[in-house]
Amino acid sequence: MRIDIITIFPEMFDGAFSHSMIKRAQSKGLAEIQIHNLRDYSDNKHHKVDDYPFGGGAGMVMMIQPIASCIDQLKSERKYDEIIFMTPDGVLFDQPLANKLSMSTNIIIMCGHYKGIDERLREHYFTSEISIGNYVLTGGELAAAVVTDAVIRLLPGVLSDETSALSDSFQDNLLSPPVYTRPADYNNWIVPEVLTSGNEREIKKWQYEKAVERTRARRPDMLQDTKP
Ligand code: ADE
Repeated sequence: MRIDIITIFPEMFDGAFSHSMIKRAQSKGLAEIQIHNLRDYSDNKHHKVDDYPFGGGAGMVMMIQPIASCIDQLKSERKYDEIIFMTPDGVLFDQPLANKLSMSTNIIIMCGHYKGIDERLREHYFTSEISIGNYVLTGGELAAAVVTDAVIRLLPGVLSDETSALSDSFQDNLLSPPVYTRPADYNNWIVPEVLTSGNEREIKKWQYEKAVERTRARRPDMLQDTKP
């Protein structure tokens, strides 16, 4: 899978993808992440990418030309499954959307800034608009990094234990059950006995019950979403 990220702050991605699973995914050739500096695509001699809004008002608006040139260039090189704009007024990012995006071969993610981008780009270029939560970030970079991380870790071969993405919170509309490691007794804080019993069936049952209990306590909305 290839992800092209368009940004005016390429340095913000320096650390984000050079560690742990995402780094491994790239070195194993399972994922390719390309960062594009939007200013490189500006026709303006000062590499300008924004301008004043028609009709007035505070803040600058990202112009069509640099974004269109960058996306056109990428589209001339390969076919994209999704061209995504990161914006707080997009659809809320969640696990099903991460699952869906992980089936893609190529995606573009555009990071917004300032007051927004020229609406005509939203009408003509982007296939989806995604928000990572009901709050406003200074730009779409951190949001793009979140989406990229959530998607790449789902690619087959990225996680060492292939089943571990399947047992993530949210994959079955349940939060994950609690987990423990050694020692089984830490200053009299004892690991639930069933987990050290070796009884696989009982362990699975306990984990399911705890997942339901935790979901009911913390995210009852997720249980309501579950189809009967
Ligand atoms: N840009 C600014 N805030 C954002 C958010 N919450 N999600 C996606 N992109 C954003």
